[in-house]
Amino acid sequence: MYTYQIILLLLAVFNVVLSDKSCYWNSECPYLMYATKTPYDSIRGDIRDFPSIPNCEVRSVWALIRHGNRNPSGTVTGEMNELQAKIKHEIIASYEAGNNSLCAQDIQDLRAWTWNSTMDVSESYLTGTGYEEIYDMAKRIREKYPHLLAGTEEHFYFRPTYKQRTVASAMAFVHGLTEGTNLNLTADEPLERDDMLRPYDNCDRYQEDVKGGQPLADELEAFWRTEEYVAMQQGVQKRLGIPTQLTAAEVYTLHELCRFYRSWSPTLRSPWCAAFTNEDLVVIEYRDDVRHYQRNGYASTINAKLGHFVLRDMYENFAASVQGEGRNLVSYFAHDTLMEMTFCALGLFRDPEGIAAAVRNPNRLCETANDVSHRVQFFINEKLTSLCPLEGCSWEQFSSIFTPFTDTTLEFCRRDYRQPDEPVTGSSVAISGSMILFAALTIVRYLM
Ligand SMILES: *[C@@H]1O[C@H](CO)[C@@H](O)[C@H](O)[C@H]1NC(C)=O
Ligand SMILES: *[C@@H]1O[C@H](CO)[C@@H](O)[C@H](O)[C@H]1NC(C)=O
Ligand SMILES: *[C@@H]1O[C@H](CO)[C@@H](O)[C@H](O)[C@H]1NC(C)=O
Repeated sequence: MYTYQIILLLLAVFNVVLSDKSCYWNSECPYLMYATKTPYDSIRGDIRDFPSIPNCEVRSVWALIRHGNRNPSGTVTGEMNELQAKIKHEIIASYEAGNNSLCAQDIQDLRAWTWNSTMDVSESYLTGTGYEEIYDMAKRIREKYPHLLAGTEEHFYFRPTYKQRTVASAMAFVHGLTEGTNLNLTADEPLERDDMLRPYDNCDRYQEDVKGGQPLADELEAFWRTEEYVAMQQGVQKRLGIPTQLTAAEVYTLHELCRFYRSWSPTLRSPWCAAFTNEDLVVIEYRDDVRHYQRNGYASTINAKLGHFVLRDMYENFAASVQGEGRNLVSYFAHDTLMEMTFCALGLFRDPEGIAAAVRNPNRLCETANDVSHRVQFFINEKLTSLCPLEGCSWEQFSSIFTPFTDTTLEFCRRDYRQPDEPVTGSSVAISGSMILFAALTIVRYLM
């Protein structure tokens, strides 16, 4: 009885001590979402898991793909390096003085941590992880639609933007797609001016009113001052117990250190993440939502309009396929800016409860079709979207969604453009690491 009580007491003491400590290294549910720096594997579905439709044949696939995991930009790299040099030793000293609440293992990991100098010479480059993400994605597409890999070079088209990370992503994709086949494919050269994949580059109203506009700057500034952010910032300061008083922006940079290093680590851990609780990360990540909503999302109608060009391309490719002249596979490699603009053009992620189509039995359709017809399926990040149900939209439904995108020009980008913009409302667009908007055109035959 006596021993039993002592054990209970010891347990109680341990409980108190443990619950007082926030350990990152062994936390059971490490937070996996880091907005656009989220590893693709933590958010994706799997295109192979969607049942194939009997008696149907996928005729053509079109995909818009965001490059894979990449290094931070030069500006972010500089800020991260400056911050780590300033506070790493302070965090360790404050632990030794008993001034902070980090765990021994997290401190040990931080001591062993070093600045990765490859970043200094390869800013914004695709990383090895990023290459694998895209290569694996292509392999899954090949496994799902092996018959599409027949044909000759002219049945395929791939094009990246001019940035290293999209050019390398296109190579990774073609590599994964053609490995072990007889196909010898290469991506097209990037265009110097690509009004389809980077329509925003040459859009004055976007550059001046949206990207460089006051609302974006104001919103971001206001975000630093929200009660939630300030409370999170104070929590981090207290947890680290360092003499340097971190600014709102420095806490954000600390989070960059956490998420970038985490995305390259085989264990998907970075000791810098120990500065944050999971709740902190949810608060801090909201900044990316604010930024993307203003910059690429529903905050401005210009954003949705800039997404029309690439959708016109999808429509034209499928329309050619219906006439028997299309390509087997078309893929473009671009940036989150265009992905989000495209989602806006499609009205996606606007109302999460919205028009989620019921998943009906995909078999039924082909069995009852009494004619040759076509259907189009849509997937985002290898998951079903609200655009069309699993058995696809009919060609007529597809056309009615997409023909409005076919007569689009950059006219509205001119500073003196005088057409009134419709007011916009909406929630933020879902953002993540790699992204793929994937559409498959299926030919449906009635088989007796
Ligand atoms: C620890 O905290 C005490 C009291 O605030 C302070 O005097 C001391 O300098 C701190 N030590 C370190 C290494 O941060
Ligand atoms: C350094 O960063 C690159 C990405 O730029 C990454 O691929 C590599 O694994 C990192 N090296 C170490 C030792 O973490
Ligand atoms: C593949 O195509 C490239 C460029 O078209 C050509 O240089 C190369 O020799 C081809 N390789 C094979 C194995 O056919």
